[in-house]
Amino acid sequence: MQLWKKNISKIVDLEKYPIHDLQSHKIKKIIEKCKAELENDSCSVIPNFILPNSLAVMRKELEQQLDEVYMSKESINAYLYAKDDPSLPKDHPKRIFMNRYNGYLNSDCFAKNSEMKFLYETEELLKFVSACLGISPIYRWADPLACHAYNVMEPDGILPWHFDSCEFTLSLMIQKPEQGGIFEYCPNIREPGNERFDEVKKSVRWRSFKS
Ligand SMILES: [Fe+2]
Repeated sequence: MQLWKKNISKIVDLEKYPIHDLQSHKIKKIIEKCKAELENDSCSVIPNFILPNSLAVMRKELEQQLDEVYMSKESINAYLYAKDDPSLPKDHPKRIFMNRYNGYLNSDCFAKNSEMKFLYETEELLKFVSACLGISPIYRWADPLACHAYNVMEPDGILPWHFDSCEFTLSLMIQKPEQGGIFEYCPNIREPGNERFDEVKKSVRWRSFKS
């Protein structure tokens, strides 16, 4: 079998987003835009970052391993915990639980020549994300299961509103939903040393199935 040498120019639209040349005027302008959006909204969207052919390759590699995807249903709070803490007041956001139904193809199941794995491990992507965040150096996640996992949703799947257990997350959407697929975020709620549980409560209360 012939081994196909992967190249970032076949994966990322470098015409639009020249992440291989962080000194270019074009990418500097994009980084400034991302920085401003992250500062104001805590979220920045970069449309059509991945080339259509590469998206098709990613979808195919996932489809070929769908039987290794671990689907699960659970009720979790906004801190990704499923366990109740009866010592807290009944309306504390840590005691407000929401349905989660999704699955993951864990990173350790990925083929060695996976398109997504290759992209995740490129210096170009790491340095671009670092520049957008204004944090340097940043490191790839050392967790061999979660570092570049595929998140899979059935038609009735849901991942409820939550705080990630890391300071930032990069998500790549490789398949649009036929309907639904609403992505919600609530910026500027908490900061180090101030969890602002009352504000969290406002965001999660109406989403919960029990309170
Ligand atoms: Fe998350």
